[in-house]
Amino acid sequence: MPTDSIKKPAIAIVGCGKVGVSLGKWLSQAGYPVAGLASRSIDSARRAAEIIGTDRFADKPEQITPAADIILVTTPDDTIADVCDAMARTGGIAPGTVVLHCSGALPSTLLARAGEAGAAIGSMHPLQSFAQIRVDTNPFAGIIVSVEGEPGAVATGQAMARDLESVCFEIRTEAKTLYHASAVVASNYLVTVMNLSFQLLESAGIERSEVLQVLQPLIQGTLANIEKVGIPEALTGPIARGDVDTVTTHLERIGQQRPDLLALYRALGTATVPLAEARGLDAGHAGQLKQHLSTPG
Ligand SMILES: NC(=O)c1ccc[n+]([C@@H]2O[C@H](COP(=O)([O-])OP(=O)(O)OC[C@H]3O[C@@H](n4cnc5c(N)ncnc54)[C@H](OP(=O)(O)O)[C@@H]3O)[C@@H](O)[C@H]2O)c1
Repeated sequence: MPTDSIKKPAIAIVGCGKVGVSLGKWLSQAGYPVAGLASRSIDSARRAAEIIGTDRFADKPEQITPAADIILVTTPDDTIADVCDAMARTGGIAPGTVVLHCSGALPSTLLARAGEAGAAIGSMHPLQSFAQIRVDTNPFAGIIVSVEGEPGAVATGQAMARDLESVCFEIRTEAKTLYHASAVVASNYLVTVMNLSFQLLESAGIERSEVLQVLQPLIQGTLANIEKVGIPEALTGPIARGDVDTVTTHLERIGQQRPDLLALYRALGTATVPLAEARGLDAGHAGQLKQHLSTPG
C-alpha cells in the first residue's frame, strides 16, 4: 500500500517474466504509475499489460522507457547489459532516469551505458524464489530486498522496497557474489537436498505423491529448530549422536539400491560431521564417521 500521498515516479518494466510482472503488478498497486511494459515478445508484454492493467506495452523498450522515471530491467542475467546498451543507443533512457536491474549476482556497473546516458544506476534484488508470476498476494511483503549502486538509485530502490512492504538491505557491490551464492544454497540447493530425501523415501516404497506429506512435518520442525536454537544445536540424528553403525548401514543400503545417490549422501554426511563436533561429538566418533563417509565402495 502507498506509504504517503506524494505522487510516485512512473515505472517501466523491461522483461515481462516472473519478477518483472510481479514487480509491475505490486508497484502499480502501491501507487506507482506505469509508463509502459516491454518484452522481447509482444505476447509477453500484452499478457503483462492485462495483468497489471495498462494499455502501454511494446516489444521495443525505447517505445515506452523515455516516459519513465524508473526503468526496471528484469530480463535474464546474461541479457541485462545488452538490453541496457540497446536502450541507451536508441534514446530509450532520458537523463535523470533511475535504471535498476534485479539480478542478485551481478553488479549495477553492468548498466554503465545507462549511466553515460545520464541515468542513476543500481540494482534491486528481491530475496525470494519466483517460480511464477505472483498476482494473488503481495510476494514482496516481509521479504528482504537488497539494493546497491549510485546514491540516487539506492534511494529510489529503498523507497520502492518500503512501498512494496519489503525490508530493505543495502549491500556492498563487491559482496554481491557471495550474497547470491548464499541465496542459491538456501533456495536452489535446498530443492536438491529435498529431492535426495524424496528419492530415498520412494526407494523405500512410498509413493511419490505421498513423500511430501510424509516429510513435511520433519522439514518444518527442522526449520523451526534452526529458528529457535540455531546451528549447530538444531542438528539431531545419527551423525550428531556419533551412531557409526547406523550411518554405515545407510551407506551399504543406498549403495545397493540407489548407487546414483551415494556420492551426494556421502558429501552431505561429511559436511555434517564438523557441525556434530561443534555441538559436542567426541573426536573418536567424528574420525570414524569421516572415514566411513569418505571411503567409497
Ligand atoms: N525468478 C527468481 O526467483 C528471481 C528472484 C530474484 C531475482 N531474479 C532476477 O530477476 C531477473 C528476471 O528473472 P525472471 O526469473 O523473472 O526471468 P524470466 O521469468 O525468464 O523473465 C525474463 C523475461 O525477460 C524477457 N526477455 C528476455 N530477453 C529479452 C530481451 N533481450 N529484451 C527484452 N526482454 C527480454 C523474456 O521475455 P519474452 O517472454 O518476451 O521472451 C522473459 O519474459 C533476473 O535478473 C533474475 O536474476 C529472479
